[in-house]
Amino acid sequence: MRAVDLIRKKREGLSLSEAEIATFVTAATTGAWPDYQLSAMLMAIVCRGMSAAETSALTAAMAHSGSILTLDDLPGRKVDKHSTGGVGDKTSLILAPLAAACGVIVPMMAGRGLGHTGGTYDKLKAIPGFHLGLTQEAFHRALHRVGCAIMGQTAEFAPADRILYALRDVTGTVESLPLICSSIMSKKLAEGIDALVLDVKCGCGAFMKDRSSALELARSLFAIGTAQGLQIEALVTDMNQPLGRAVGNALEVREALDTLRGRGPRDVQDLSVQLAARMVRLAGKAASLGDAEAQVLDALHSGRGLERLRAIVTEQGGDPHCLDDSRLLPTASHRHLVTATCPGFVTEVHAERIGKATMLLGAGRERVQDPIDPAVGALLAVKVGDEIPVGAPLVEIHYNDPQRLQAALPLLTDAFRVEPTPPPLPSLILDILE
Ligand code: URA
Repeated sequence: MRAVDLIRKKREGLSLSEAEIATFVTAATTGAWPDYQLSAMLMAIVCRGMSAAETSALTAAMAHSGSILTLDDLPGRKVDKHSTGGVGDKTSLILAPLAAACGVIVPMMAGRGLGHTGGTYDKLKAIPGFHLGLTQEAFHRALHRVGCAIMGQTAEFAPADRILYALRDVTGTVESLPLICSSIMSKKLAEGIDALVLDVKCGCGAFMKDRSSALELARSLFAIGTAQGLQIEALVTDMNQPLGRAVGNALEVREALDTLRGRGPRDVQDLSVQLAARMVRLAGKAASLGDAEAQVLDALHSGRGLERLRAIVTEQGGDPHCLDDSRLLPTASHRHLVTATCPGFVTEVHAERIGKATMLLGAGRERVQDPIDPAVGALLAVKVGDEIPVGAPLVEIHYNDPQRLQAALPLLTDAFRVEPTPPPLPSLILDILE
């Protein structure tokens, strides 16, 4: 099959067969097609779309372009959670140990943050010594011992996605539902899981800015995962304001620890418990969602969730003392407070601006190879709906480099709106697909 014929076929809006899609994916992995032909095919897919059957075939081919973990010797169902990316979203650090404490096997491949959204990989790297470069054997061993293991995405798993994503990034071909869905689901299939809880973020800080496109993405991920034999539940959740109050890697680890001690922000706790409860139900450990929620809350309030996180950190080479003494986590050398210039109600805490500002401080990266500073970030003093006097703190900025602070400040001051009348309070969970 000649590359140019397959590209033309998709360009004309015709459906590609399973074998033709496999040819394209194999060519991406082996380098048999040059980048310009791969990119032309990607653009044809963006412009012409793909049917559900084509998207499913693309997902399966990308998942099988590398290793697929086999975890069949571990008793019980393996369940993971995936978020489409948000600001201040540290729920993985909370729900993974909570679900594991309820008996779920949680194999997790953590992504690095890119652009204004954070990644679980970078948050865990803020824990001194925590090692995410696990071999398959070490990953397997950790799952056996503590019921949860978290590793970084490597070239071993879904390598076709890595290659195609890098091309999409520079050829204007990221925005395509079949490409996004196959990219996400192929990596999840490679984990060898049985079930998946999806958290599709919606709002100014998310990939999908409005509810209908977030719901469309959720439905599409749901359909593809199901077609590949996964049991899926999906939530569409608000990402107009950051989740919780901490944005930045070590700051978010501290907030996750507070949450596991029952002292976290309400939204962080509620979403973590909701997602973990769905993992527990999907694992077949609870008869109903209510029962699953009760189990997760018990794991939280009894401290078993925190103890499970300690076991995960210890197993993966991290310093468990950080869990008790957060001064052992990276700390920025300077603070800067932004205060309100008028009294009133907070009507906006703009997630995207805060995410971009913390990236400029050094908490995130623009390109995959950029280094990050685990200590810097922002601690929000207010959330949407709060009533505040003039001069009240809005956000405390943690920074190391004064030049970076100057770059981030305009975005941070612009992220808050204070008005005379109270806003409608946003719902955290917008839609549920099960
Ligand atoms: N996240 C992914 O992993 N892939 C995409 O294409 C978009 C978001």
